[in-house]
Amino acid sequence: MIEALRGLGYLTGTALADIVDNSISAQAQSVSMRFAWDGDASHVAILDDGVGMDAVELDGAMRLGERSPLESRAADDLGRFGLGLKTASFSQCRRLTVASMRDGSMNCLRWDLDVLASSPDHGWHLLEGTESGSEHLLEPLLAAGKGTLVLWERLDRIVTPGFSEQNLLDLVDDVERHLAMVFHRYLGGGHPSLQIFINGRPVEPWDPFLRNHPATWSSPVARISSPTGMVDVQCHVLPHKDHLTSQQELSAAGPHGWTAQQGFHVYRNRRLLLAGSWLGLGQGRSWTKEEAHRLARIRLDLRNSADADWKIDIRKSAASPPVGLRPELTRLAEDARARARKVFAYRGQPRSVNPGRTVVQAWKAEHAPSGIRYRIDHEHPAVRAVLDDAGELSGRIRAMLRVIQETVPVQRIWLDTSEGREAPRTGFAGEPSSEVQGVLMVIYRNLVVRKGMSPKLAREQLLHTEPFNNCPDLVAALPDDPQEAHDDGVGD
Ligand SMILES: Nc1ncnc2c1ncn2[C@@H]1O[C@H](COP(=O)(O)OP(=O)(O)OP(=O)(O)O)[C@@H](O)[C@H]1O
Ligand SMILES: [Mg+2]
Repeated sequence: MIEALRGLGYLTGTALADIVDNSISAQAQSVSMRFAWDGDASHVAILDDGVGMDAVELDGAMRLGERSPLESRAADDLGRFGLGLKTASFSQCRRLTVASMRDGSMNCLRWDLDVLASSPDHGWHLLEGTESGSEHLLEPLLAAGKGTLVLWERLDRIVTPGFSEQNLLDLVDDVERHLAMVFHRYLGGGHPSLQIFINGRPVEPWDPFLRNHPATWSSPVARISSPTGMVDVQCHVLPHKDHLTSQQELSAAGPHGWTAQQGFHVYRNRRLLLAGSWLGLGQGRSWTKEEAHRLARIRLDLRNSADADWKIDIRKSAASPPVGLRPELTRLAEDARARARKVFAYRGQPRSVNPGRTVVQAWKAEHAPSGIRYRIDHEHPAVRAVLDDAGELSGRIRAMLRVIQETVPVQRIWLDTSEGREAPRTGFAGEPSSEVQGVLMVIYRNLVVRKGMSPKLAREQLLHTEPFNNCPDLVAALPDDPQEAHDDGVGD
């Protein structure tokens, strides 16, 4: 049976999160993990400073399903099935030793799958103490004088053939990212607060919602009542990448990456269960994860009384909303998705220096029943200037614009952007300012000399015209006399 339970599908990070859950339920404030490399004799030790267990409790803790999932639990208990300690550990190792201290005395019990497998009487031989030679591994617990130590030895699911010390270091990084995400609301000095150390290094919290960034949009918290308690939902739309430094963009992506981490982030007692899922919601067909919605991340908080309703699994990695909540969740998610789509599509949303005034854009999106089309706006000053004076060229210029409109390389842009390569450059990004100035000057001169607009008004208008809204300094530096600079400076 235990061999079968090893295949529940834990990863090292999810398995360790299950161990940390127990420490949190035992009111630990600090959890220290040690990954010790020694080839096949490598081990992982997890020490907490929680309330610990006495001999009877430890005996119960080592048994499978000692507590029924139907039992109601304390509101801050992260457990449910009475299995996690064993299933998580055996998914990674063949020998599990648990030592715990309560009132100054230590108890220690051990399961060893090889001993079980070779036992002639098929008995469940729960062993006492550590394997001989491993006694020294309990020293940190004895020194601390309280808490619980979980020791994984014979890491056959981690140290597989060819696995090197470097692979272990990479695994440690992976685990760190996972725990930083799963427990971020405890790690950030939350309440209750928790510190996790991995090989002596503290794990820093990772906030999926970039709440401290001024460009993050957050909805008010919606409270939905259900028969098993309240559910809190808060939608967030993260900033467009133009508002993030490359370092911020990399870190905000999260352990699974931008596309995978869109959608609901489901928390149970502030502990993250699910990092990005549309939960099978959708209008008609379930939504899939798409680039366009990658900035939408929704926080959903559950109480542990709702476990059965939400079909929480043993690994604490899956949840599914009860049917009664689906319409309301769909409505909230639809709104967040629409906002996220907008932020994603408008490259940096033409920013206006004056919030009350919109920016004239060169391209317009036209929504028609047959689909969206992109059209060059003939009212854009650069276009208007030419059309007004086109005379007999007018027909040919309109034909040219039409050809450009009809051949926007939509598929190509979409692919290039979604493959996560460098986003296509627009808005003069990276161009020398002389280049921008040249183009700017042509349009400015047209407005002032031909249209008779005052220099002040012309500058004002250009400041609210794409893409010059991105370079207010150059607009401000335009001379009052547009004849001053004669060179058009515009390339072919
Ligand atoms: N670090 C710990 N400190 C104190 N008690 C612990 C610790 N780890 C486990 N226990 C005790 O052992 C019991 C069994 O733990 P286990 O993780 O197997 O199941 P659970 O936490 O009850 O439920 P779940 O399967 O959902 O995790 C816990 O209910 C708790 O009483
Ligand atoms: Mg548990």
